Amino acid sequence: MFYEEVPEGPPDPIFGLSDAFNADVRVNKVNLVIGIYKNERLESELLSTVRAAKQAILEEDGAADYLPIDGSKAFLEQVGGLLFGEALWGASKGRIYAAQTVGGTSALRIGAEFCSAFVGKKFAVSNPTWPNHRQVFEKTGVVETYSYYSQRERRFDLSAMLSGLKALEPKTVVLLQGACHNPTGCDPTADEWAEIAKTMRERQLMPFFDVAYQGFGRGIEEDAAQVRHFTKEGLECLVAYSCSKNFSLYCQRVGVLFAVAPDAAVKQRVGSQIKRVIRTSYSNPPAHGARIVQHILGGPMRRDWRREVDAMRGRISEMRNELVRKLALRCRGKNFDYLLPHQGMFSFIDLEKRQVARLIEEFGIYLPDSGRINVAGLNSKNIDDVVEGLGSVLE
Ligand SMILES: Cc1ncc(COP(=O)(O)O)c(C=O)c1O
Repeated sequence: MFYEEVPEGPPDPIFGLSDAFNADVRVNKVNLVIGIYKNERLESELLSTVRAAKQAILEEDGAADYLPIDGSKAFLEQVGGLLFGEALWGASKGRIYAAQTVGGTSALRIGAEFCSAFVGKKFAVSNPTWPNHRQVFEKTGVVETYSYYSQRERRFDLSAMLSGLKALEPKTVVLLQGACHNPTGCDPTADEWAEIAKTMRERQLMPFFDVAYQGFGRGIEEDAAQVRHFTKEGLECLVAYSCSKNFSLYCQRVGVLFAVAPDAAVKQRVGSQIKRVIRTSYSNPPAHGARIVQHILGGPMRRDWRREVDAMRGRISEMRNELVRKLALRCRGKNFDYLLPHQGMFSFIDLEKRQVARLIEEFGIYLPDSGRINVAGLNSKNIDDVVEGLGSVLE
């Protein structure tokens, strides 16, 4: 009686497609949909440092108490150093508030609610962007887009982005993806980030970084350069950070919301309001995943973990290079070099919606209709099938 009028909601654009993949009975189907790192066996495995950390903390992880509303201070200290770099973190943490969140998504949502109450109700995301950005920000305000990608030139388009930013009202909260842009794989250079920072300051736009792939692009330090630049330049900003990908802790839901403030007094006030948002959302975060991250980053395993991240990045880049090489052989006269500079797990392949539909229906190769592929879904066994499928629909 109460639920009679509830309409069916649309399936999630990414998880919904993964469900369709799971239901497909074809043996040679390929999943290039969801942003999960897969090894050569196409498994999302526990990193060996994560496995060792789990064992090490088994004994000490015995407390059943709540964590504080904004989580474990020791964990936040470690992730702060990782993102901002030890020197900048040491010099700036007096003005950077940090709250442990339930993955990167809840950092985005908590930050959005905070902004909507205290900064402004207008949000802007890149066109295109990860579909969940729009869904999250629509919960708390009005969402606009700024240009980001040139379809014609198949690359990031700085001048289009800057004009887009200049058209936004002051105090608009602008979502910026730190590195490994989802879905295009195209990132601004350091000089371009400096221009973006300058424009954001001049137009009084509020930067809200989403850092979900630190270490998957050029490296741990390189992938955090834009956040560090904005912080050094004294811009106030928010950062939603995810440990899902670089620690392969997808199911543990480990993330952080950072708020870079101008001074310690503002940090204190901002933090007090963010805590109120968290308290009415999930009250306080889960402990286990954060303890794993803290154990790895705070001890001798840190070096091994960095090597594991390097290995994940290396496999992604190898698969991307192989894909480009094999596509060029299969599709004579077509050039796929535009895929080579892409960073992180995603690449945007120039495909029309009907071509994506054919890939799914005829070849069992699953990807969202934007043409985004998860390069980590490729391995030495399925890459030829994918190249054949792509070659056929692009003919
Ligand atoms: C760009 C981007 N931001 C945030 C997230 C969310 O990460 P989490 O799983 O930690 O919520 C993802 C996950 O796919 C993502 O691609």
